[in-house]
Amino acid sequence: MEDEIAEVAVPAHIRLHQQKSPHSTEQYTGLLYDLILSGKTISRRINKAGLLDILGGTGEVNVQGENVQKLDEIANRILIYRMERCGALCAMASEEEPNFIPVSPEFPRGDYILIFDPLDGSSNIDVNINVGTIFSILRRPQGTSGDVCLEDLLQAGAQQVAAGYILYGPSTMLVFTTGQGVHGFTLDPGVGEFLLSHPDIRIPERGKIYSVNEGYSNCWDEAARQSVAYFKGTDNLAQAPYSSRYVGSLVADFHRTLLYGGIYMYPPVVEKPQGKLRLMCEAAPLAFLAEQAGGLASDGHRRIMDIVPDQLHARTPLFIGSTQDVAAVEAIYKRYK
Ligand code: AHG
Ligand code: MN
Ligand code: MN
Repeated sequence: MEDEIAEVAVPAHIRLHQQKSPHSTEQYTGLLYDLILSGKTISRRINKAGLLDILGGTGEVNVQGENVQKLDEIANRILIYRMERCGALCAMASEEEPNFIPVSPEFPRGDYILIFDPLDGSSNIDVNINVGTIFSILRRPQGTSGDVCLEDLLQAGAQQVAAGYILYGPSTMLVFTTGQGVHGFTLDPGVGEFLLSHPDIRIPERGKIYSVNEGYSNCWDEAARQSVAYFKGTDNLAQAPYSSRYVGSLVADFHRTLLYGGIYMYPPVVEKPQGKLRLMCEAAPLAFLAEQAGGLASDGHRRIMDIVPDQLHARTPLFIGSTQDVAAVEAIYKRYK
């Protein structure tokens, strides 16, 4: 049989898992389908980026204090437009928007909340390096109705019902979890569908790669410095120095960590004591994936999934990847508490 026929397509996979899921509602599957369609639309735009006038910045600075790229804005608009109409959401929040977005009363509303980083790694777009969309799906807290309020969104990562990312790389991949393992799909551009290419991904118990922006090492805390020294030395569990890899797109660095093992780190730095990464749209969804694949995600002291955000754009330090590698960092942080 030809490959395209032999592989399971994402809608069939979702239907199959739907039967075992506590969220097997029409709303929920519709939400996933529309999200996937948004990802395909963004992927198409990114593939044409060098040919259209959509590279470079908009000249604006977002709520995070970062320069907005044209493709950040395009991806953000595609997601907001499509997802507001999907009928499954009551609210959304985007890395690019200062406030959460309640679904307008002109559209049907549902019980779910979507949090997303429309384009992660956007400083890499102009040099044709992998970027991605990260998403997290929450359910509106039981017993709440009427207008959505900010508190409805501020839930710990452990409350997520699904999370994942779409990676726009040499091929476009969808990797997601609904709490039943982590599954990876590759977009076949010929048929326009994601096909199951990486069923039930498991992170190796220990890796051989550490991933961190070492340019900031002088601004790290002592525990972060000691952690990197541990991976670079021979007094570690591998008894050999780890390799260093850093793309600078979290989604790409995480994807490599998921498949090869090892650790991705964004420690606190002097000017950013909470680190740079956003808890709700970056750290929590990737933490859900890491745990579902048998790995760990920590802020150095706590499980990322247990942190309750105190604001929409709360940040957190992040240490994520293979169980033994993340546990080694946590042990070092314990010494410096
Ligand atoms: P975004 O493009 O969504 O703003 O995220 C950028 C993040 C993340 O992708 C990456 O890991 C990190 O910024 C890189 O930051 P440094 O340049 O400080 O290493
Ligand atoms: Mn990001
Ligand atoms: Mn972004």
